[in-house]
Amino acid sequence: MAFGNTLSSANALIIGASQGIGLGFVKKLLVDSRINKVYATYRQPASAQELIALKNQYADKLTCLSVDITEEAQIATAISEIQAGVNKLHLVINCVGILHDDTFQPEKSLRQINSENLLRYFQVNSIASILLAKHLLPLFRHNEPSVFASISAKLASIGDNKIGGWYGYRASKTALNMFMRTAAIEYGRSSPQTLIVTLHPGTTDTQLSRPFQKNVPSEKLFSVEHCVEQLLIVIEQLKEGDSGEFFSWDGNKLPW
Ligand SMILES: NC(=O)c1ccc[n+]([C@@H]2O[C@H](COP(=O)([O-])OP(=O)(O)OC[C@H]3O[C@@H](n4cnc5c(N)ncnc54)[C@H](OP(=O)(O)O)[C@@H]3O)[C@@H](O)[C@H]2O)c1
Repeated sequence: MAFGNTLSSANALIIGASQGIGLGFVKKLLVDSRINKVYATYRQPASAQELIALKNQYADKLTCLSVDITEEAQIATAISEIQAGVNKLHLVINCVGILHDDTFQPEKSLRQINSENLLRYFQVNSIASILLAKHLLPLFRHNEPSVFASISAKLASIGDNKIGGWYGYRASKTALNMFMRTAAIEYGRSSPQTLIVTLHPGTTDTQLSRPFQKNVPSEKLFSVEHCVEQLLIVIEQLKEGDSGEFFSWDGNKLPW
């Protein structure tokens, strides 16, 4: 049975919900009557004002938690706070990711390779998700179907890499895919009702893609709302046997 058909009184957790795709998921799930509770994490209040304001409107449904995903202790604390409220999660979506910030940009050439920046990419884009898989296991160990999705990127595909560049972002998303594929195998034994997948959202209009949108045709640049709608369709259609796979926004599997 497709995951979406099993959704009722479900508890969801969106990681990286301060802005962009993560915030879009929170807004959509808050108005979905099949969802009972929404837990949403943010790193810093400065970029999470819109999320935090939603609390006024959805006081009973939404809980906001502060988590820097590169700090394992903060992940563990947030999971304990969730466990104080619910004993199971049905849908977890990790939307955390970094491509650029005030201090660094994706590398166009080998000349720009810098080990500190590479480590940052891996810490945020790859390692965070496997730490989540470690700490979330107790909340997934129940007998109802559940999904743990991480937002990856088509750029992670080794087979599809024809244009090069963006070394750290690409490789960190490839590592994310491998971490999740491996976790899917272990969860298959310890929490067999949980499907673990990675998803390519398509180029979506957020602060992450904004500096790189000029060559993207308008029909290929998704709004956050459209991206979230498409990804939720993919998630809802997931079924037994899909765990460990890498899906695009249109539901097709992507090459590793
Ligand atoms: N937009 C696209 O075109 C596109 C394409 C392919 C893949 N993706 C992937 O989609 C996901 C969502 O991206 P987006 O476009 O929505 O970007 P975004 O608007 O920049 O959102 C990224 C989120 O990650 C959070 N984050 C970054 N570092 C963190 C840390 N150390 N701890 C906790 N949270 C942290 C950010 O929090 P702050 O607000 O605190 O910075 C923000 O909530 C990412 O994994 C991205 O790689 C996006």
